[in-house]
Amino acid sequence: MPTVELKLPGKDHGYEILIEPGAIDALGERLAQIAPHAKAAAILDENIESSHGRVALRALKRGGYDVTVGVMPASEKMKSLKTVQDLLAVLLDAKLERKSPVVAIGGGIIGDTAGYVAASYLRGVPFVQVPTTLLSMVDASVGGKVGVNVKQGKNLIGAFHQPVLVCIDTDVLKTLPDRELRCGLAECVKHGVIRDPDLFAWIEDNVQRILDLESDALVELVKRNVEIKAAVVTEDEKEQGVRAHLNFGHTFAHAIEASPQAQAEADEPKRRRFAPPQRFETPKPKPESHAYEGPYAHGEAVSLGMVAATSLAVSAGRCDGALLDRLVALLDRIGLPTSSDKLADTDLLMGIMQTDKKVKDGHVRLVLPDRMGAVSVVNDTPADAIAAAWDAIRA
Ligand code: GLY
Repeated sequence: MPTVELKLPGKDHGYEILIEPGAIDALGERLAQIAPHAKAAAILDENIESSHGRVALRALKRGGYDVTVGVMPASEKMKSLKTVQDLLAVLLDAKLERKSPVVAIGGGIIGDTAGYVAASYLRGVPFVQVPTTLLSMVDASVGGKVGVNVKQGKNLIGAFHQPVLVCIDTDVLKTLPDRELRCGLAECVKHGVIRDPDLFAWIEDNVQRILDLESDALVELVKRNVEIKAAVVTEDEKEQGVRAHLNFGHTFAHAIEASPQAQAEADEPKRRRFAPPQRFETPKPKPESHAYEGPYAHGEAVSLGMVAATSLAVSAGRCDGALLDRLVALLDRIGLPTSSDKLADTDLLMGIMQTDKKVKDGHVRLVLPDRMGAVSVVNDTPADAIAAAWDAIRA
């Protein structure tokens, strides 16, 4: 089975990332060699519970595990401390032990939440990722970042807890909603821009084979991207340096994703101020502060964010306009947005960028391309250049 090995410096063993059509069938037997135990927990994405989830559970049973199952919806609202607390209670009630693996089966929301459960339970138990979206296969499932959202922001509470095994079944992509496949491709394009011109060119040449779900193209796509992610994490597990390059497009993207909520909060006092004083209103439930669902899914926001960041780099004379043209052309062919008429006011978006966890001493940290395959972290971009980048992606 094609396998990528991720070995972190200073740790005595690495972990395998299995990549193959049908890989889930081998999950139990492989895991039993790595983390044998009588009990395991599986935390399943509600969307795939009756399909790939069932196959994974059967495979775990074949590996000898008595499996306790927790199911959660794949919603950012559910990626919370409350869900972690509930799942920890399930594990405690089932008397899982220090060597019982916790297996996440689903997309990034499930992997992040289950990973934090695994990092916290008895101060850390073996964790396994079985990603079922392209986005989680090529990004979230590899590298050990786990955590949840809180009302103050996304992914602010978490840990680095590396999995002991990542099992990627590329056949699963054949049942993935088309929009999610395109969203995952945004992260693949990102990998090409930040590190691998050959990968970028390969995606240009193979977009149609990927969108047609050709098995060989899917395996090649996932393998090449996982190799990049694994190499970055091996170089810089705790994001002290090169791992920050993975944030290309993401500072803009997070602002896009957070803006519906920020707009709702900005509008809320006005609504109260203009309510007729004589009318009694029962308090309305406050919108969940960690509800990020807006018009754009994460990969779509990343697509817009990469175009904004590259436009900024071109305007600042950091990179050639030809890179921007190639990027926009490829994202268009994939069917990802490259401009938008649904963006919030620039002031609101700029305000959200200031709350990003990557802000350092009040400076927004942006990852900007220098040329295809090379980027830099830039801390001193003037506010008017950032505002111009937002204008550059307005339709
Ligand atoms: N998804 C970005 C990272 O793993 O660092």
